[in-house]
Amino acid sequence: MAVTRTFSIIKPDATRRNLTGAVTKMLEDAGLRVVASKRIQMTREQAEGFYAVHKERPFFGELVEFMISGPVVVQVLEGEDAVKRNRDVMGATNPADADEGTIRKTYAESIEANSVHGSDSDENAKIEIDFFFNEDELVG
Ligand code: RTP
Ligand code: MG
Repeated sequence: MAVTRTFSIIKPDATRRNLTGAVTKMLEDAGLRVVASKRIQMTREQAEGFYAVHKERPFFGELVEFMISGPVVVQVLEGEDAVKRNRDVMGATNPADADEGTIRKTYAESIEANSVHGSDSDENAKIEIDFFFNEDELVG
């Protein structure tokens, strides 16, 4: 299995509850390495751009408001089959459906305030990494 990279966000519900370390530990325990990390306050323009794929969805407006409601931690994660590995440890979008031991089962508050984002393909991982990071910020 190839070592690849994925993009992660620790969302405002988690930073608000001081869970940055706890979430990161679950990512690391799942075999992922943080090769870039920064805490930012997303602008509305960034949130709308990042989630542009969802702009026709009924929850788009609320999602943007939520993502700018407090700081987030954007990260690049590296590991074997990183996209799948990360999504496995994240758990289902709705915490009610998430498996025991996943980040969302453990920490998410709701389907929206679900503590983490993770890229859903290698192709989107590259796009999302480039959206938030310059190459010189990746020091794996
Ligand atoms: P993500 O993109 O954040 O990793 O999560 P995901 O793939 O599991 O979920 P996705 O379908 O891409 O939805 C993106 C984010 O939108 C919020 N959401 N709210 N109110 C709702 O019904 C609803 N559905 C989704 C969540 O924050 C979800 O992670
Ligand atoms: Mg998604």
